[in-house]
Amino acid sequence: MRAAAAVTAVAHPNIALVKYWGKRDERLVVPLADSLSLTLDAFPTTTSVQLRPDGSRDVVVVDGQPATGEVLRRITGFLDVLRAHARRREPARVDTRNTVPVGAGLASSAAGFAALALAGAGAYEIGLDATGLSRLARRGSGSAARSVFGGFVLWHAGPADAEDADLASYAEPLHDARVDLAMVAVLLQTGPKPVSSREAMRRTVATSPLFSGWLAASRTDITAMRAALAEGDLATVGEIAERNALGMHATMETASPPVAYRTHASHQVLDHVRRMRDRGEQTWSTMDAGPNVKVLCTAVDAQRIAAELGEITGCLTVVARSGPGATVTTGVGT
Ligand code: PMV
Repeated sequence: MRAAAAVTAVAHPNIALVKYWGKRDERLVVPLADSLSLTLDAFPTTTSVQLRPDGSRDVVVVDGQPATGEVLRRITGFLDVLRAHARRREPARVDTRNTVPVGAGLASSAAGFAALALAGAGAYEIGLDATGLSRLARRGSGSAARSVFGGFVLWHAGPADAEDADLASYAEPLHDARVDLAMVAVLLQTGPKPVSSREAMRRTVATSPLFSGWLAASRTDITAMRAALAEGDLATVGEIAERNALGMHATMETASPPVAYRTHASHQVLDHVRRMRDRGEQTWSTMDAGPNVKVLCTAVDAQRIAAELGEITGCLTVVARSGPGATVTTGVGT
């Protein structure tokens, strides 16, 4: 049989300003609340999918090495979702290349599953618009729904009583944001995290006494964040984003057993960012499921702030700005 053409897609990570932390539906990956993010122009992931009509199983290569364990299980599990959607059975070869360390809270899974959803939909000839792709990417990793789009993106949880929870939960780009936001990623540690975000979320929702308070606050944060973005009010954007991220970490640190992604080095950066703000800089912190800190600032200030944080920590800092949505680079229609 003639070999099927490979379809290749590129996607970028996104960093949430109002976080996704907690699922309503584990299997469908439907969140308990809306979240809002910025897709970056740094750290792209490139993924090719090629069907293997004569093959007996999926072959998955990540950064040049055959995938094993949990990584292999998640990717083949996602290929099963694609196959069920397409009503097809062929196994596939997936080749994915990251430019960011995997599992370090730098949103590699968001970029990874957005690229895989797009390339996989092409390879299995699943005709979906971008909204449909965001629903599909969500099944791989929740935050991947947002990396389908560029710039500021809102991911709808959908109503709790939705008839079709899958249909009701999708991402959409926000076109009325008027802030020129940059993020400085401070790469304190690039090894994989001790607890997966999936397990950490589950444990937080089930056991943290702070979770319901954080969830209620994050629903208010979404509305206030949308208004601040539309008004171009960077200070309010930064304040909400920092408080929301610190609240998320407080909920998981009070789970049992606790999930502690923040290290001594993370706290030093968080403190320094507050000190910078005290002397008049426009800087706010956010953190995800790992020890690394991303510092929000204006695009104009970003290089200078990155240099200072690099000097203070002795770590690599990377400036990222608003980036594009996921795109097919080769395969379909080329
Ligand atoms: O998509 P996941 O399962 O890796 O969840 C990531 C959640 C956070 O990055 C911590 C927050 C967010 O909204 O991206």
